[in-house]
Amino acid sequence: MASSSPSKHVFLLALFVLLLPISAFAQTNNGLNISVGTSLTATQNSSPRLSPSGDFAFGFCQLPNQNNLFLLCIWYAKIPDKTIVWYAGNNPPATAQTGSKVSLTSDRGLVLTDTQGKELWTSDIVVGDVYKGVMTDQGNFQLQDRSSETLWQSFDHPTDTILPSQVIDRGGILSSRRTETNFTRGRFQLRLQQDGNLVLNTINLPTDFANTPYYASGTDDETNSSTSGMQLVFNETGSIYVSRKNGERFGLADGGVVSSRDNYIRATLNFDGVFAQYYHPKNGSGSWTYLWSIPGDICLNILLDLGAGVCGFNSVCTLNQENRPTCKCPRNYTLIDPNDEYGDCKPDFIQGCAEDELFGSQGGDVLDLYDLVEVPNTNWPTSDYIVLRPFTADMCRESCLRDCLCAVAIFGGEACWKKKLPLSNGRVVNENSRAFLKVRKAKYSILPNGSHGLVPKVLEKEKDQDTLILVGSVLLGSSVFVNFLFIAAACLGFFFIYQKKKGKTVNVSAVNLRCFTYKELEAATDGFKEELGRGAFGIVYKGIIQTSSSVVVAVKKLNFMARESEKEFRNEVNAIAQTHHKNLVRLLGYCDEGQDRMLVYEYLSNGTLASFVFADKKPSWKERTEFALGVAKGLLYLHEECSTQIIHCDIKPQNILLDDFYNVKISDFGLAKLLMMNQSQTQTAVRGTKGYVAPEWFRNKAITAKVDVYSFGVVLLEIICCRRSVDMEVTDERQEILTDWAYDCFREGTLEFLVNWEAEALNDIKTLETYVKVSMWCVQENPSVRPTIRKVVQMLEGVVEVHDPPCPFPAYSITN
Ligand SMILES: *[C@@H]1O[C@H](CO)[C@@H](O)[C@H](O)[C@H]1NC(C)=O
Ligand SMILES: *[C@@H]1O[C@H](CO)[C@@H](O)[C@H](O)[C@H]1NC(C)=O
Ligand SMILES: *[C@@H]1O[C@H](CO)[C@@H](O)[C@H](O)[C@H]1NC(C)=O
Ligand SMILES: *[C@@H]1O[C@H](CO)[C@@H](O)[C@H](O)[C@H]1NC(C)=O
Ligand SMILES: *[C@@H]1O[C@H](CO)[C@@H](O)[C@H](O)[C@H]1NC(C)=O
Ligand SMILES: *[C@@H]1O[C@H](CO)[C@@H](O)[C@H](O)[C@H]1NC(C)=O
Ligand SMILES: *[C@@H]1O[C@H](CO)[C@@H](O)[C@H](O)[C@H]1NC(C)=O
Repeated sequence: MASSSPSKHVFLLALFVLLLPISAFAQTNNGLNISVGTSLTATQNSSPRLSPSGDFAFGFCQLPNQNNLFLLCIWYAKIPDKTIVWYAGNNPPATAQTGSKVSLTSDRGLVLTDTQGKELWTSDIVVGDVYKGVMTDQGNFQLQDRSSETLWQSFDHPTDTILPSQVIDRGGILSSRRTETNFTRGRFQLRLQQDGNLVLNTINLPTDFANTPYYASGTDDETNSSTSGMQLVFNETGSIYVSRKNGERFGLADGGVVSSRDNYIRATLNFDGVFAQYYHPKNGSGSWTYLWSIPGDICLNILLDLGAGVCGFNSVCTLNQENRPTCKCPRNYTLIDPNDEYGDCKPDFIQGCAEDELFGSQGGDVLDLYDLVEVPNTNWPTSDYIVLRPFTADMCRESCLRDCLCAVAIFGGEACWKKKLPLSNGRVVNENSRAFLKVRKAKYSILPNGSHGLVPKVLEKEKDQDTLILVGSVLLGSSVFVNFLFIAAACLGFFFIYQKKKGKTVNVSAVNLRCFTYKELEAATDGFKEELGRGAFGIVYKGIIQTSSSVVVAVKKLNFMARESEKEFRNEVNAIAQTHHKNLVRLLGYCDEGQDRMLVYEYLSNGTLASFVFADKKPSWKERTEFALGVAKGLLYLHEECSTQIIHCDIKPQNILLDDFYNVKISDFGLAKLLMMNQSQTQTAVRGTKGYVAPEWFRNKAITAKVDVYSFGVVLLEIICCRRSVDMEVTDERQEILTDWAYDCFREGTLEFLVNWEAEALNDIKTLETYVKVSMWCVQENPSVRPTIRKVVQMLEGVVEVHDPPCPFPAYSITN
């Protein structure tokens, strides 16, 4: 694990402090107006222009989590939590890199240009000559001419927030952000339509097409032309209303007005579609407090025939105290994108007619395959495909269980509504109905947080027939009479079915997992004679299995899990056997005879990545970049692409093998799980190998797939530099710990040291730089800052931009 000297930590602390966004705190600026010809530059410490009272600031603000990207914006200067009320450019926002400039010109007003002078955004004044720019105490940035006439103002170009004294005319729009921290235009709008109606609607991104509103004030011309809405007014004292043609007001909220003298007040169209008013004490203490919002219940109000609702498909929406939506996947469903809690959910199991049918044709009963669990007070009102009545609750349940299209059944009165995937507009309801959600029965689980697999009952019946081999075994001959059939061979979930030999022909792409006897393997390895290697899990021997031809194999004699039951062991082995990826070592069979447990793998002729990368003669740069990408892809498969997430826990060059064509193949995956099962809950020992293990192992923190990302980061550096992560032999002690040294080189811009001036790597400096940056992101101390392995692959492949990583070792860390 990374370690560094105390003095280095002091240095890193200083660096860290320097990197803090200073612009947010630089408030000693005076309130001078901006005159034509002056400009502001986007840097970490550029001072904003303040309004006379100092309440509002105009300038560049750093994008969250983006070191060198800025928006031109207006924010509250006196309160600590930075609240942006306006930003330049709405679709898309004008993102400016460090060094970009905004200048005030007399003919075009504000002009924002990047470092190359390319125009990013402009206020575009058409009439009049601009003389100065003024940041007002209302939070309005104005461009005025010589006689202080306003030619342009930010209040006329609102983004997602309006402020007291701001008015929106017919045709005016507020657009939500994509997320709280992503200022790209989101899918929600607040509009005062040309007909006077104030509405909230979603749009079909990336177009502007507005869907049917989910809120409408009803102040349109058609309802009553004399009372239709002319403006949306946020008056000085903090009331928001639609002012009607006849001078009357349509208030958006009853009461709920706070003192605008003591409080900042704003109304924002949040990224989740809720338009809400908030206040914050001016004296600096406290935080934003919610006053009121529209619509009344966004979970219920967004209800279109098509579309997911405010939450993603298969998700369920509830409101929090501030009337904002919270989305949650139902039981046995998980988010497709774990970082997007408002996104779609997917079932943790496969459900499809093909599987059900196959299961049935093998003598199984679908009632053994699924459970219907009752989820209280939940409905997905737009996903019905049939209603059956008169039905009883039991008939409803059975009908859904036996129907491979049915994902949920709602029973109420005498009616049974069956619903299909994807489920949309999920919400909590207070109806007199019962919701039954169909889930695959869990016979066992693979990982603490992973999904689940299934062994149908029919398989268990075969237990006494101890030769469990697959028919259609190309590799292992024909003396077989029981089959494992893995549907959708690669990774669609697993689910095995047995079949008598004389039965139908079986999918040949299915897994050929053979159960060997101890004697067979003893013979194959010639009495465990030739040792190929030793690892945490046991010793590996070379062997030859005789079938119609001879197959060279690697036999791993496991040295643990004496206590584990036979069934659990087989389940785990089967899970490993179902992985099928170019960058993973194939499991061919196993032996399970009491104390003697062995795994039989394909034999790879070219040894380990360690022996290759740390050899005297380095592999070429091109080969190394391919190794790195291969390892990342193998891990991506383990983490995200097989039905059961597998966390490796011990990624290191010794566990990565090379085949005849120098493809890298990860080995030993799935074994950490076996090992952990063997330990009682309380004694979770550190898994993995010194130098590669993530800090959370030592901190009693949750172990997630990010531990592998950490180890991958270390391995990636080793591949880049062709040296071990810890090397006490080096002459310069700064270089002992590879991660520390690499960060130093990255920061100082001296990457050539890392590759020892290797010409091929330096000719490809862009890739080198990308790879180093990616590794720095992977070895971040905080697991949540590390990218997912999917992101890593994308970064290595160059399909997403790699930002400059922060220092991987925060100064407070206690490393060892
Ligand atoms: C800035 O502009 C405002 C509005 O035109 C004006 O009232 C004020 O006097 C100006 N302040 C300075 C210091 O020029
Ligand atoms: C913001 O969201 C858009 C659209 O989803 C995406 O393309 C963009 O990369 C995001 N920006 C950031 C900084 O995450
Ligand atoms: C329109 O509103 C005005 C004022 O509230 C009312 O006097 C008038 O009767 C309404 N007209 C219609 C057609 O409802
Ligand atoms: C703002 O509107 C509210 C409600 O209509 C009204 O009571 C208040 O007097 C208004 N304030 C100003 C300054 O006009
Ligand atoms: C700040 O203002 C609020 C209400 O305006 C008041 O309750 C609180 O005591 C004030 N705090 C300070 C530190 O002045
Ligand atoms: C479904 O979820 C329950 C608890 O939330 C869990 O016990 C069960 O194993 C899960 N089943 C499957 C098939 O994921
Ligand atoms: C699994 O997830 C839960 C909640 O998301 C977390 O509390 C727990 O620590 C995780 N366990 C592991 C082993 O990752």
